[in-house]
Amino acid sequence: MSFSLSFSSLSTPLLKPTFLSPTPLLSLPSRSLSIKSSIDKDPDSKFSSTNNTTNSKSWVSPDWLTSLTRSLTIGKGDDSGIPIASAKLDDVSDLLGGALFLPLFKWMNEYGPIYRLAAGPRNFVVVSDPAIAKHVLRNYGKYAKGLVAEVSEFLFGSGFAIAEGPLWTARRRAVVPSLHKKYLSLIVDRVFCKCAERLVEKLKTNALNGTAVNMEENFSQLTLDVIGLSIFNYNFDSLNANSPVIEAVYTALKEAEARSTDLLPYWKVKALCKIIPRQIKAENAVTIIRETVEELIAKCKEIVEAEGERIDDEEYINDADPSILRFLLASREEVSSVQLRDDLLSMLVAGHETTASVLTWTMYLLSKDSSSLMKAQEEVDQILQGRPPSYEDVKDLKFLTRCILESMRLYPHPPVLIRRAQVPDLLPGNYKYTIFIILQRFIPFSGGPRKCVGDQFAMLESIVSLAIFLQNFNFELVPDQIIGMTTGATIHTTNGLYMKLSSREREAAVTSSSPSR
Ligand code: HEM
Repeated sequence: MSFSLSFSSLSTPLLKPTFLSPTPLLSLPSRSLSIKSSIDKDPDSKFSSTNNTTNSKSWVSPDWLTSLTRSLTIGKGDDSGIPIASAKLDDVSDLLGGALFLPLFKWMNEYGPIYRLAAGPRNFVVVSDPAIAKHVLRNYGKYAKGLVAEVSEFLFGSGFAIAEGPLWTARRRAVVPSLHKKYLSLIVDRVFCKCAERLVEKLKTNALNGTAVNMEENFSQLTLDVIGLSIFNYNFDSLNANSPVIEAVYTALKEAEARSTDLLPYWKVKALCKIIPRQIKAENAVTIIRETVEELIAKCKEIVEAEGERIDDEEYINDADPSILRFLLASREEVSSVQLRDDLLSMLVAGHETTASVLTWTMYLLSKDSSSLMKAQEEVDQILQGRPPSYEDVKDLKFLTRCILESMRLYPHPPVLIRRAQVPDLLPGNYKYTIFIILQRFIPFSGGPRKCVGDQFAMLESIVSLAIFLQNFNFELVPDQIIGMTTGATIHTTNGLYMKLSSREREAAVTSSSPSR
């Protein structure tokens, strides 16, 4: 693991969540770059790999691939000047089915902020230069989601997380108003605080008897409960009962990642999906998620119809059911049931695992840095004086916010953003030749028109959950555990994150903290 795990930057001014570099970067020549459209090009695939397996490491792409790409592109007069990363078998085993971003990160350190990567018949340009990242993200239209949409369509269907063009514009426009301030403020109190308190209640036993707790698992349950209540007003209650949805979401995201590195997209052949175990598992996972969402929509529709409910102002909220689903149904937008299902499923998936991963890595980092942990705890005690946080309190929890942002800088979710050039374009710098672009930067929530719609929701949820956790517990990492990294769409640990907890005396914590801010 080669990431630096330190909170040292917390002593510097608050990191701006836009286009900053996670590590010092080599400077780019200030030339202009011309970029070829991926749709101009039919990827030349002359591969005869036979290493097909039923797990996620389906096709291996060793270093001969790099040599082949080099000879092909040189033969075609490639004058891009973009270095080609030498993909060795060891790196590629990570690339296929392990943690995709690890070799990308390693090559970034070796080759600089722009390099090419032959990943099978596809040719990627991997970019970590802030100016190019900004350019690509802001010029949505010239750059589509491309590969991401292809490999996750089996899960998201026509959901707006991957839709393109007018459909995406219309659906994003329909959904965004539901996340208004009044909704967020109510949800902090009714959902974020309540779910975090349920987690505290559950973990008290572990604190008492000193048993180690897998916090990654607990955060995953917490965020599923939060997103279920916020979007559907439905309590998965995964903190207390086994929810097949968690496993299903992880399986589906892992499948999407595996598809992005499969040399041969055999999953495009429907018949094969019925007989290959990996595909059967993925299809079953999607069925679980879709059926759950369909059931929730049907129930809510019945109520809205029976009550003849309609939205009557911009910040409309139904007090009994403040969910996003209720808002969307009451808005009476013309939308098919399948589209609504896919849009809500987009939010369920996009908003669950991401926030859980942020909480997991923030807690990990805090456990490694006792002075930052103490400072965060002091801030929470001072600002909240033992009560749960309100929407208004959150802006005062400045240090905790910085801890979360720093954790997102060190462990970005998702660690790579993928785009495909639709038209020839001129980039800042001067390199030619591109099919796909992968960006790996400190761009929490991404940028440009396809930026995360749940950014405020997620920050509020993370801050509130951690604040309540810090109010109630001291924690330390169980010694000698190996915290490896792997990915679904976000960075997961390989074996969980085990912590020992001990209860804090809330009153004692409050009286001992100074009233001065
Ligand atoms: C800390 C937690 C979260 C992180 C780190 C995160 C990150 C991101 C990123 C980076 C993107 C853009 C990907 C790209 O440019 O290709 C994105 C998109 C999206 N996010 Fe989030 N997200 C989080 C939480 C949420 C939550 C809570 C929701 C829902 C309430 C949500 C819903 C979405 C949706 C629907 C999109 C697609 C938007 C579009 O394409 O128009 N996210 N998220």
